[in-house]
Amino acid sequence: MNLQFKKPNPKTQLAMSKLAKGEINEDYHKIAEEKILKFTRHNFSKLVNSGNAAILASMNAIDGAVLIPDQGAWNGFKQIANFLNKPLITVKTNHGLIDLELLQNSINENKDLIDFNDENKKSALFLTSFTAYTAEQDIKSISNLLHENNILLVEDASGAICDSSLKLANGSYSDIIIGSTGSPKIINVCDGGFISTDDNSIFDKSRLLLKTSKTSNITSCGIATEIEFAQTNLDKTINACNYLKKELSDDFHIFHKDRRGINVILQSDNPKQLSYKLRQEFTLDEHGMITKCPNYNRLKEKAVAIEIKNIDYPYLEKNYLDEIISILLKYK
Ligand SMILES: Cc1ncc(COP(=O)(O)O)c(C=O)c1O
Repeated sequence: MNLQFKKPNPKTQLAMSKLAKGEINEDYHKIAEEKILKFTRHNFSKLVNSGNAAILASMNAIDGAVLIPDQGAWNGFKQIANFLNKPLITVKTNHGLIDLELLQNSINENKDLIDFNDENKKSALFLTSFTAYTAEQDIKSISNLLHENNILLVEDASGAICDSSLKLANGSYSDIIIGSTGSPKIINVCDGGFISTDDNSIFDKSRLLLKTSKTSNITSCGIATEIEFAQTNLDKTINACNYLKKELSDDFHIFHKDRRGINVILQSDNPKQLSYKLRQEFTLDEHGMITKCPNYNRLKEKAVAIEIKNIDYPYLEKNYLDEIISILLKYK
């Protein structure tokens, strides 16, 4: 089946190319930062040149320990925590989903690494809005529990910025929201990232890092334009995954089938073979849409992830989804 890899909206491509050709003469950094704030409802934001740069700058500003989920997150969290020599606490999850009891146990077991009183030495949990891109975290309850323990919540919303339900990427719950605007993310500009927060001391603490990871004006223009399509694009991807999960759940074990997500993860006895076969079935230009698990960024289970988030939006219509389903059913 020939599908197309996600591209920036034609209006975004046009705006970026006009700027590159010198047909527009405007500084887009502030415009894009303000648009991000409109969606996150925070007071301060900064653009950076990648999602990992956003993680590095925000984690550098954390004075306490770094907590991360045991799976379903982003391997950059661990790599960057190690690079920065931060004490690292891995939290057990329910297949990537934060379980409040397990989180509280982890906090209790690591009392020596966490300061429960000092406002200036807070630890932080880093997670992604959707675990494994497949199931939304209960951000509000997680945030409440963390705040009761003097711990910050840092949400990587690369896959969920502009959530119309306001459950994800919402500055009322997450102290810091970071994201990549690289390819194929929800703000899909092929480059860049952002940090959003109510605490601008983060930007002071990481001033040098922010200086070394500046976003180009062309990327800023791309972010400012593409963000206008993000909510519709995210809704469309979530709806496609809801449909696929529902239609496939009689024939496959689907992880977190009742949760919103932007990919679909099927359990498999032989993920190596299944992922090989599915790669032959689904081609997305020169890109892929199949991820073999176990994989920290997805699930540490025998499974195969179908990356619906990589597919360009015109190909998320029902007729294409039905064709995807009929191909997958050959391998049930
Ligand atoms: C959830 C998540 N966060 C961060 C990143 C890193 O983003 P970048 O490639 O822009 O550094 C990625 C990359 O795929 C990601 O999936």
